[in-house]
Amino acid sequence: MASERMSGMTLRMDIEVGSSTAEEGELGSILSCVGAVTRRCGGGCRWLGILCGVLDGAGGYAATRGAYVSKATLGDIMHISRPAPDIAELTDVIAIPGLGFLPVNAYVVYAREPVLIDTGLRASSPDFLDELWSLVEPDDLRWVYLTHPDHTGSIFEILATARDALLVTSLSGLGLLSLEHRVPRERVFVLNPGERLDVGDRRLMAFRPPLRDNPATTGLIDELTGACFGSDCFGAPMTSGDLVQSEDVAAVPDDERVAGERLWTAADTPRPADMDRDAYLSGLAWLRDVDPSVVLGGHLTPAHFRVEAVFDTLADARDAPSHMGPDELGFRRTLAGMEPTRI
Ligand SMILES: [Fe+2]
Repeated sequence: MASERMSGMTLRMDIEVGSSTAEEGELGSILSCVGAVTRRCGGGCRWLGILCGVLDGAGGYAATRGAYVSKATLGDIMHISRPAPDIAELTDVIAIPGLGFLPVNAYVVYAREPVLIDTGLRASSPDFLDELWSLVEPDDLRWVYLTHPDHTGSIFEILATARDALLVTSLSGLGLLSLEHRVPRERVFVLNPGERLDVGDRRLMAFRPPLRDNPATTGLIDELTGACFGSDCFGAPMTSGDLVQSEDVAAVPDDERVAGERLWTAADTPRPADMDRDAYLSGLAWLRDVDPSVVLGGHLTPAHFRVEAVFDTLADARDAPSHMGPDELGFRRTLAGMEPTRI
């Protein structure tokens, strides 16, 4: 069984937001650096938008904390944990200038027919695959569940190695994935919201999370254990990598969790204030009524003990300030503060 491990490739970013400008000759390497950050997500994620939000989007967050995160480390840090006896969690981390450390999670559910939920970050693919195959034998993996088509980091390598595994996603997710990839139809199982996937000893029910950055997003409820896999509905950057690796979000100071959740909502959900209030609250109430035994988000530390508090914060999500990145000058100033360093 793999445990915590840290690889050698690290990119250090010393950030002095708004305090310096890029020399012409430096801009190419800086943009390469940002490209590396943005490419870490498999497809159409909003990381660039998050990065651009350092100057204005982080303002409320920083004010809550009292200071910007002045130094951040972007490393291929893969943390393995067991949020439940039959679940392994693979957590990668993205350090976002000015915001903090964002967990990027995938899960192995040890059902009679083992299931992988989401497939990590593209740039961490070798580490992710090493850890994944230490957790489950490729010949045993039966299902690869994609919550939405930007959590696709290692998806095709996994399907190539686990020859008996089927890709499970919603029809709209399959459609979006097919726009950029050739998806072998004989390897696909379509599961739409409200439908259930029988994995031998339990059924997993697909649902549409009340918050999402993609119209195809679905989550899963494990009907045997009550675990809720909520995709991007649940996320919060943290002020340290150690907090990302906490066993439970209850270990995170409450003001930091609330600020992180609100920032994540503003950054990841397109225009939350435009959502229909009644429809949103009714979707959230449905999820509360499920009464999950544990909430396992795409970008949140596991929540066993503070589930109600996490939901309470989400209830105010429509009021999160809308997220608008800086202008061209602000963007370049942000980039100029990033110093790629290989150690
Ligand atoms: Fe995500």
